[in-house]
Amino acid sequence: MEKKFQFVWCEQKTYAPKQPASGVYVRREFTVSDGLKAARLHMTALGVYVPYVNGRQPDGQRLLPGFTDYRKRLQYQSFDVAELLAQGTNVVSAVVGNGWYRGQLAPFNKRAAYGDKLALAAILELEYDGGTEIIVTDTSWKATQNGPLLDNGLKVLEQYDATLELEGWNLPGFDDSGWFACTPGSYDGAVIPSEGAPIMEQETFEPAVLHTPDGETVLDFGQNIAGHVEFTVTGQAGHEVRLRMGEALDQKGNFTLKNLRGDKDDGLIALGQKLVYVLKEGTQTYRPHFLISGFQYCKLENWPEEVVAENFRSVAVYSQIPETGSFRCSDPMINRLYENVRWSQKSNFVDIPTDCPHRERAGWTGDINVFIETANYLADTRKFISKWMKDFILSQKPSGGLPYIIPPLPGLGGESSAGWSDAIINIPMNEYWFYGETETLALAYDAAAKFMAFNIDRAQRNHWRNLFKRDADRKYVLDTGQHFGEWLEPKGNNFLEGLKSVILPDSEVATAWFYYMANQMAEAAIILDKPLDHQRYAELAKNIRAAYRKYFMPVKSDRQCKYVRPLYMGLAEAEEITALAKSLNDLCIRNEYKIGTGFLSTYQILQVLTDNGYADTAYRMLENRQYPGWLYEVEKGATTIWESWDAIKPDSGELGVKSMNHYAPGAALSWLFSHCGGIRPVKPGFREIMIAPVSGGSLSWAKATYQSVAGKIGSFWRLENGTFILEVEIPEGVAATVKLPDGTVYEKAQTGVYTCGI
Ligand code: BGC
Repeated sequence: MEKKFQFVWCEQKTYAPKQPASGVYVRREFTVSDGLKAARLHMTALGVYVPYVNGRQPDGQRLLPGFTDYRKRLQYQSFDVAELLAQGTNVVSAVVGNGWYRGQLAPFNKRAAYGDKLALAAILELEYDGGTEIIVTDTSWKATQNGPLLDNGLKVLEQYDATLELEGWNLPGFDDSGWFACTPGSYDGAVIPSEGAPIMEQETFEPAVLHTPDGETVLDFGQNIAGHVEFTVTGQAGHEVRLRMGEALDQKGNFTLKNLRGDKDDGLIALGQKLVYVLKEGTQTYRPHFLISGFQYCKLENWPEEVVAENFRSVAVYSQIPETGSFRCSDPMINRLYENVRWSQKSNFVDIPTDCPHRERAGWTGDINVFIETANYLADTRKFISKWMKDFILSQKPSGGLPYIIPPLPGLGGESSAGWSDAIINIPMNEYWFYGETETLALAYDAAAKFMAFNIDRAQRNHWRNLFKRDADRKYVLDTGQHFGEWLEPKGNNFLEGLKSVILPDSEVATAWFYYMANQMAEAAIILDKPLDHQRYAELAKNIRAAYRKYFMPVKSDRQCKYVRPLYMGLAEAEEITALAKSLNDLCIRNEYKIGTGFLSTYQILQVLTDNGYADTAYRMLENRQYPGWLYEVEKGATTIWESWDAIKPDSGELGVKSMNHYAPGAALSWLFSHCGGIRPVKPGFREIMIAPVSGGSLSWAKATYQSVAGKIGSFWRLENGTFILEVEIPEGVAATVKLPDGTVYEKAQTGVYTCGI
């Protein structure tokens, strides 16, 4: 049954953008009579909230109610609270803060993006034999802004003064006579049951205590994460300590935020990641309410006692999605790389898929678009992705255009970039292939069709550079609009490429994606039984392909991406593929096996090389330790994937101005499952599979497992005295083909051992 929530405003002070926004403490006492059978609390907020029942949190979820496009929809959570209640007086309460709703949001720290008044809504159902008593948020709920949480945000700052703690505020019997009454509030969007995966506290890390050359005390937790620092401290009331979270030390070993946005404390691009805490008397432990940072290091300022590791731990916070993949091989560096990709996924899967957990922390569509296949091998993304996809679909503009950040930030322009907005169909297709379910695809189809129409329309127009080119094929070339292009090839510059994306968008990239998407639409139309649409999109794809070939082929370039893209996307004719792949291979060899691609083809290059007979080059690129390359990062001590290879510059060792926690360049690692381990779906949902491992490089063994919806699939190969020995695990009822490196094919393969010479 649909829940009818009643919202209450819970602040007295008017919100002022540059003033500290104190957290709000809200409470309501009620009586539980004899014979309570069940009790459920449903709660949500315009803002972010921590719920309590008699001082205890009903479950460990963080950052409730989660991030949706609040202009349209807001999730509520339901908790079973019977265990937390007792006969007599009880109290339900919450701390409410800014959250995504009103806090500073990336890329430009926009404040109050969705509203400037915090509200709470709750329904408490107390079930007795004789019926259900319902308590809802109304003017009998009391609130105060004079609590210890002086300022709060998810990203920039949390400020807490423990001397102002309201002893017992969330327990029965507290005197709230000095608190104000909440006032009737309102919310126009849909209030929906929680759809996402719960955001939970996960792994914890103990630090090493460093004393830097500059005399700073810095904690090194050894792993870059999204999360917070929890600490125990002893000192005198009124003493202020400051914690600053960052992901790097500079060349000299000092704490720095320069690779992100520097240590400016305010303004459009302030990074923040700052916790200010004022001690009460004695020993106390603090865990931030809402501040989540991207960090490995924490600089402590003004600590009142000797800093000992046992008093600190970092806590990773991210959406709980079941892990489905595992990979290990004989090269520990590759194993570390694999972990780094997984950690970048964890850090950027905090309710929505983000680009990075600190600088922008925005739902950039392009990043997840390229990462989705890897994401799906690593973990079951269904809940997480389908919630986000709904906001994506709802964000569509009347023109059919799609914002490139989801949930969209009101007032932030920019939309419909090729490779970014195509996520509207590429992601649902990926979900369909991995899980064999059509729900997300069916849900996104109409929006994707409208976006196709939008693209068809803008392709009809010519960019000013091509104003006088008017031949028939031109209308299938996409050269208008903003397109980020290949984005961040080695040495790339975010700012200049951002500028170029507006003035001189790369029509080769845009047209290739236009084609790829038309093809995916044609495929989706078959799956969803829309034969007419299928015909239409297939025809469109044919025309775009012809135009692409006319304008952008044959390829004459020294950029790897220009070869990878047509090969990956099926833009080359059969007789051209060999030459194109050879040119790519030659280019990679000339480049000493260093990666040369950007966001949009780094995730494709290993597949393309391997599928075209150059597995050896793929392995050498993967194992290359020189800049730029994946293992270059590992050698430099990376524990997550960097936005760009020069986050630590090769010659000087200086830090670049780049995030160190962007999963996009790690998206190539689906290859470890699909090619190195060789586990691939032949039919959606892995109901039929192919296991075709490819050995190579320095590896003497590799083991990949994938927990598919059809059961657990395993591929474990090793080389022994010139023999390739493969052990496979195939779930019951799954039709499997095993293909060995010497070309031997076993149809209807079973769990067991397969060998060949190598
Ligand atoms: C983000 C990216 C994003 C891009 C758009 C960057 O600043 O961090 O990951 O996709 O902008 O090109």
